Amino acid sequence: MASLEISGLVKTYGDVRALDDVSFDVAAGELFGFVGANGAGKTTTMRIILGVLRADAGTVTWDGSPIDAATRSRIGYMPEERGLYPRMKVGEQLVYLARLHGLSRADAHAAMERWTEVLGVAERRADAVEKLSLGNQQRVQLASALVHGPEILVLDEPFSGLDPVAVGVMSEVLRTEAARGVPVIFSSHQLELVERLCDRVGIVRAGRLVASGAVADLTATERPRWLIEGDLPRGWDPGLAGVTVAHEADRVTIEAESPQRAPEILAAAVNVGQVRAFTPLRSTLTELFEDVVSEHEEAAA
Ligand SMILES: Nc1ncnc2c1ncn2[C@@H]1O[C@H](COP(=O)(O)OP(=O)(O)OP(=O)(O)O)[C@@H](O)[C@H]1O
Ligand SMILES: [Mg+2]
Repeated sequence: MASLEISGLVKTYGDVRALDDVSFDVAAGELFGFVGANGAGKTTTMRIILGVLRADAGTVTWDGSPIDAATRSRIGYMPEERGLYPRMKVGEQLVYLARLHGLSRADAHAAMERWTEVLGVAERRADAVEKLSLGNQQRVQLASALVHGPEILVLDEPFSGLDPVAVGVMSEVLRTEAARGVPVIFSSHQLELVERLCDRVGIVRAGRLVASGAVADLTATERPRWLIEGDLPRGWDPGLAGVTVAHEADRVTIEAESPQRAPEILAAAVNVGQVRAFTPLRSTLTELFEDVVSEHEEAAA
């Protein structure tokens, strides 16, 4: 299957090493979330993928070939510095951009109609972009990344500034695009959203990719935990070797070394009180992010 392969990217600005050997790949049909603190290197990586910035070292290939002008024109890109013409009308601008990417006038017009409809800005087609609110400009920006039916999507913080309805719409759009075989890479600081949406994530820290993979796989090595909700005696402890307990109001969190301990933990709880729910807890991307970032801070210290 075709994939977008990013390999050994290095980029320095003066004495700042913005990227230090970044490698990962995104398969056709995969949604890849790119996360990291401010200044970690996300935008730099995405600009290099697009070819608007040149790497000092490393390569980017699509389906095994370096990205040339022809491939580039089939990428849907949403830059961090939003690039719309403020005075141009929404509809005209989208048609113009679609035409630049080679669509016929009729196809460009149809695509403009479709995407302004999907993204909820159809009523603003005849307005200059600068007259729209920030969030609506953002929707137009998204439409501009999608209007030419791209084969690859590279979106730098597509969710920033969107209201919850637009976030939902956009999530659905990205899922649909991935489902039709497009590799989608996007950056975001909204970790819960990234976790919900993405097949795989990459965590970048100070120019290095410190983790990548499915969130469930990345957290699989951690000790399993369960949440027990119900009425258990205050300070209850199942008294099982290797099992630790934390109490918080009527919620008890249990940690053990293996998932096989679940039945005996539950049995011990049921034995002493009312159990309303017994739920395995997964580590979240937020926890993973914090762990990975602090680990690397310790290593650097
Ligand atoms: N044009 C530039 N000149 C000098 N340094 C730059 C330039 N562009 C980026 N940098 C530096 O490169 C590093 C990575 O920046 P980048 O914009 O890729 O981060 P980011 O992960 O996108 O952050 P954010 O979440 O804030 O958007 C930072 O240290 C930044 O200061
Ligand atoms: Mg950025």
